[in-house]
Amino acid sequence: MKGVIVKCIEELIMSAAGKQIWIQILEKSGFTKHQIFLPGSDVADEHVIKIMGSTCEVTGKSQQEVFDLFGEYWINVYTPKLYGHYFNQIKSARELILKLNEIHKATTSNMEGARPPRFEFEHVSEKQIVVKYISHRGLIDIYISIVKGMAKKFNEKIGIEKISNEQVRLIFQK
Ligand code: HEM
Repeated sequence: MKGVIVKCIEELIMSAAGKQIWIQILEKSGFTKHQIFLPGSDVADEHVIKIMGSTCEVTGKSQQEVFDLFGEYWINVYTPKLYGHYFNQIKSARELILKLNEIHKATTSNMEGARPPRFEFEHVSEKQIVVKYISHRGLIDIYISIVKGMAKKFNEKIGIEKISNEQVRLIFQK
C-alpha cells in the first residue's frame, strides 16, 4: 500500500499521543525508530496491517477504535490538507461516496503501482445505496470507518449496514 496511508497514521499518532508512542509502534512493527515513510513509496500491505495492530497494542485501543480514528483523521484532517481541491466542491457524503472512483483515479494517477479499491453502486432508492467494495486487500472495515468520518465531516447521520466483506448498505438522510 502507498506510504501516504502510513504517513497519515504517523501524523495522527504524533499529534494525539506523541513521538515516543510512535517510536514504540514502529519498533513493535519491526522497524527502527528512524524509519521514514514517503507518500509515494510502497509499503507491504502486511506491514501496514502490522502497524495498525501495533497501534492497538501500544495504545490499548481495539482494532475498531483504531480504524475509526484513522477514518476520521483521513477524511477530516489529512486529505483536506493535501488533496482538498479534489473534494472542496462536494456538499454531501453521498456525493463524495459516489465520486470516489474518480477521486482515487485522479489522486493516484501519478503514483506508480497504486491499486486503490474500486466501487460499484446499486441505487436501491433515492436515499439508499448498496456499495460493492472491490479490492484484493479486503479492507471493507476501513472503508466503513472512513464513511463514518465522512458523516462527521458533512454533519450527517448515515445508516451503515455491512452486508458482507464485499458489500455495505448506506442509508442517507438527504
Ligand atoms: C482525496 C481523498 C483520498 C485520497 C487522496 C485517497 C488515496 C488513496 C491511496 C493513495 C490509497 C492507497 C492505494 C494503494 O496503495 O494502492 C487509498 C486506499 C484506500 N482508500 Fe482512498 N483516498 C481518498 C479518499 C478515500 C475515501 C473517502 C475512502 C472511503 C470512503 C477511501 C477508501 C480507501 C480504502 C478502503 C483504501 C485501502 C486500500 C484497499 O481497500 O484496497 N479513500 N486511497
